[in-house]
Amino acid sequence: MLELTDVVAGYGSTVIVQGISLTVGRGECAALVGPNGHGKTTLLRAISGLLKVRSGTIAFDGTDITRVKAEKIVEHGLIHMPQGDLVFPDMTVEENLILGAFTRSAAKRARERIDEVYEIFPRLHERRTQRARTLSGGERRMLAIGRGLMGDARLIMIDEPSLGLAPVIVDEVYHQIQRIVKSGMTVLLVEENIHRAQSLAHDIHLIENGVIVRSGSGSDLLDERAIRETYLGVAE
Ligand SMILES: Nc1ncnc2c1ncn2[C@@H]1O[C@H](COP(=O)(O)OP(=O)(O)OP(=O)(O)O)[C@@H](O)[C@H]1O
Ligand SMILES: [Mg+2]
Repeated sequence: MLELTDVVAGYGSTVIVQGISLTVGRGECAALVGPNGHGKTTLLRAISGLLKVRSGTIAFDGTDITRVKAEKIVEHGLIHMPQGDLVFPDMTVEENLILGAFTRSAAKRARERIDEVYEIFPRLHERRTQRARTLSGGERRMLAIGRGLMGDARLIMIDEPSLGLAPVIVDEVYHQIQRIVKSGMTVLLVEENIHRAQSLAHDIHLIENGVIVRSGSGSDLLDERAIRETYLGVAE
C-alpha cells in the first residue's frame, strides 16, 4: 500500500534520510525504531509531502506521490500524526476533532466518524466540551490521534505516541492504537522502544543515521544479542 524506493531527504545542505526503501502492506502495522535524531520524523515528513524528496520514489496505493503536495496527499487518505501534541488549546475536544475532518468528503462523514473516535477513546467523549488546554498529557495525545482518524484515513503515520507519557498512560494509548490496527487500518508507527513497537507491529525497521540497518519481526530482531544491547541497553 505504501512503497518507498531509495528515498533521500534532508534540510538545506544536510542529507538526513539517505536512501530508504520499505513497503507497508494494506492492513499491516510497520514500525520505524531508532535513536534520537536519526531521521525518523524526517522520513515521515518526506512521505507526507511536508519535506521535499530529493531522490527516490514514494507510491501510495499504486499512485506516485513523490512530488505531490501535502494537502493532496491528505486527500489520498495518507494521514500524518506529528510528534508532540498539536492540538488547539483554546478549542474544545470536539472542536479539535471536527477540525480533523477538513476535506470536503471527510466533512460529510464527520458526525459518524466522531462517534467512532469516541468509541475508541471514551475519555474524549467524557471531556468533549472541555478545552484542550485542560486535558492531561495522555488525553491530549489521544485527541491528536483521534483528530487524525477524522479524515478519510487509509494509512496513518503516528510519530512517537508514547513520548513523554507515564508508562501506565502509554499502555492505555497503545491499547487504543491496537484497536485501530485491529480495525484494519494500515499504520506506520515511529517508536523509540523496540518492545512497544513489537507489541503492535508486523515488521520493524531499525533506522540509524538515515538508513535502515535491519528489518524483521520484533522477535527476530530481539533474538540478536547486538540489537538487544543497542536498543535495550542490556549487556549480557
Ligand atoms: N527543520 C530542520 N532543519 C534542520 N535540521 C533539522 C530540522 N529538523 C530536524 N533536523 C535535524 O535532522 C536530524 C534528524 O531529525 P529527526 O527529527 O528526523 O530525528 P528523529 O529520528 O525523529 O529523532 P527523535 O527520536 O528525537 O524524534 C537531526 O539531526 C535534526 O537536528
Ligand atoms: Mg522524531
